[in-house]
Amino acid sequence: MKLLILFTVLVNLKSVISFEQKVVPSCNQNEPVCEFNWVIDYLETMVYFSEEQNPRPVVVRDGVLQKRLGCNNYENITDTELERVITAEGSYKVLFAINGQVPGPSIVVYEGQQVVINLKNNLLVEGITIHWHGMVQRGTPWMDGVGTISHCPINAGESFTYRWIAEPIGTHWYHAHLGVERTDGLAGALIVLPKDSDKKTNGVAELPDFAEEYVMVLQDWKYSPSVEVNQEINWGLTGYLRDLNDPECYTTTVETDGGGVGLTAFESAVINGKGHYFINRTMVPDTPMLPYETFMVEEYKYYRFRIVHAGMMFAFRISFDKHAVQVVSVDGNDVIEEGAESVIIHGGERVDIVIFADQPIDNYWIRIETLESKTVAGEEIEPGKVLGVLRYQSASTDLPKTERMKCDADNRCKVINCPFKLFPDSHYTDCMPISDLKSTKETLEKQPVPTFQSPDEFQEVFINFHFSNVNIIYILYWMRIEKIYPTGDFMVDCKDKDCSDHCQCTHIIELQRGKVVQIVLLNMDDAPFSMPHPIHMHGHHFHVLKIGFPEYNSTSGEITKQNPDIRCNTADCNTPTWANEEWLGGNVPGINLVDPPLKDTIMVPGRGYIVLRIKADNPGSSFFPIISGLNKQNSVETDTS
Ligand SMILES: *[C@@H]1O[C@H](CO)[C@@H](O)[C@H](O)[C@H]1NC(C)=O
Ligand SMILES: *[C@@H]1O[C@H](CO)[C@@H](O)[C@H](O)[C@H]1NC(C)=O
Ligand SMILES: *[C@@H]1O[C@H](CO)[C@@H](O)[C@H](O)[C@H]1NC(C)=O
Repeated sequence: MKLLILFTVLVNLKSVISFEQKVVPSCNQNEPVCEFNWVIDYLETMVYFSEEQNPRPVVVRDGVLQKRLGCNNYENITDTELERVITAEGSYKVLFAINGQVPGPSIVVYEGQQVVINLKNNLLVEGITIHWHGMVQRGTPWMDGVGTISHCPINAGESFTYRWIAEPIGTHWYHAHLGVERTDGLAGALIVLPKDSDKKTNGVAELPDFAEEYVMVLQDWKYSPSVEVNQEINWGLTGYLRDLNDPECYTTTVETDGGGVGLTAFESAVINGKGHYFINRTMVPDTPMLPYETFMVEEYKYYRFRIVHAGMMFAFRISFDKHAVQVVSVDGNDVIEEGAESVIIHGGERVDIVIFADQPIDNYWIRIETLESKTVAGEEIEPGKVLGVLRYQSASTDLPKTERMKCDADNRCKVINCPFKLFPDSHYTDCMPISDLKSTKETLEKQPVPTFQSPDEFQEVFINFHFSNVNIIYILYWMRIEKIYPTGDFMVDCKDKDCSDHCQCTHIIELQRGKVVQIVLLNMDDAPFSMPHPIHMHGHHFHVLKIGFPEYNSTSGEITKQNPDIRCNTADCNTPTWANEEWLGGNVPGINLVDPPLKDTIMVPGRGYIVLRIKADNPGSSFFPIISGLNKQNSVETDTS
């Protein structure tokens, strides 16, 4: 009986569909509605699912990947069959899949198109909601998909139809917004193309014609299920390298500035579901026969990569051996092209880059590396990584032999979007903060930088996040509360609590419609180390006017002092303001009101701040829009007691 049930469940998932790495519009641009039918079901990595036979585990045997057909019966797996296996880093893990895909199928629609997703939850117990990250949901805040805040979960066995307008254009993504399903399969790319213009130029005249556009969904990958990882973090059980079965100890790692990187060990990462576990962080993978995600290019052509960070914890530095990256868009918003050796992407962010295939016909490594630099004890370590391949047409199918660019005094490396201001001297590397990117004219015309004439058109908000003191690692998002749960345990208003010290509550800030709202996001606390953290605002894209970094030792690159522009007022910095009161009312020196980049997710540097602006023009269901930060300021002690 038990077997029968298991069998019935498994055949629901007929087969795994290989990930489409190219950007292919899902509907014709003249269609007013673009409709998707999604079935969400379980799937397992390293298992071959097909319509013809029962699912088969994939194993390494005789130095090759084989399907295990029986106790002593193995068969080589063909390349075509392997395309239908989510190999990840080579271990087995049950995931959630949309129509048999991990990452989920890319949604590629046109601006203004009505997007309809008929979702069927075929899981046994888990509820689901899907957040459309980057969509502003103008007039449809109830479609934002934030589980238990703006949306009741779609329970096991239930169906639900999402319906919203594709706006704005650009590279976005979608992901489950309930628990930790997002990092176990329920995420994918969501691309909005401009209508009535050549998609290859994205409406920006200066960009070249792209021979192809590729999707790259990046994720750091844990051997254990995310629900386990999440709980073990909450319980303070992060001192094991891989999981509790592994007695080897894990020491927290930090960036060059001393800021915390991950609360658990980096194990591996995947590009479009494909990765490797690299033993001791060398170039030696644990299972070398696993496929590398490979992108084909032709000589002297341009390629656009739409990159999504759908991961859990670790920021990634992206570089292509022998090829410069040209950043053309951040979080879907076009910026004036900026070349660099590499670009950093944080959880929730998107970056579009252009690669010009101007090198000899060959294979080149694509490197996606963490920012880990040393252990908290000061021992230097190699960054964690995942590798992909850039393969020129007619090159061999051998793996690349290329080396990472050496940054030295004669060839300094430029990196865009560092979570800190500078690298140590010895790295010969220069950081370009994301705030130094410039919006294109078209981006500014579509969404001008909010300015105001009189003080009553202006609202100023300071919000401090306490990342280092928090044992909840993700989904510290900003949310618009639609008051599905106006009362109850989940929503304890900070007003009803004594928050003079750390507390756990929901921080609600009412924004007045039509006002220019300047928000200062802070990352200040009294923990011994700092931790940069990305923040995502729902319902708006904001202009990044300024980043305030802390003070550093310019030789070692380590943080020495919290940024002095902020006066914390209390030890835990819960009632902060500008140190110089003349900065109030929008008079912050050094803010860019001319052409700042537009984003919806931003890394708040440890012991630093971000100044951003929105126009409060996208109300929720109430007359005044309500924005809330889940300001969970609980200390580890409070939560574990
Ligand atoms: C399986 O693949 C290996 C390596 O390509 C090859 O040596 C072997 O002969 C194959 N086995 C069968 C049964 O085809
Ligand atoms: C990895 O490093 C450890 C500790 O240095 C060493 O004992 C082990 O042999 C290494 N493993 C491999 C496969 O290189
Ligand atoms: C800055 O860092 C360098 C290198 O670690 C160290 O030698 C120096 O003493 C530091 N300077 C200060 C002022 O702490």
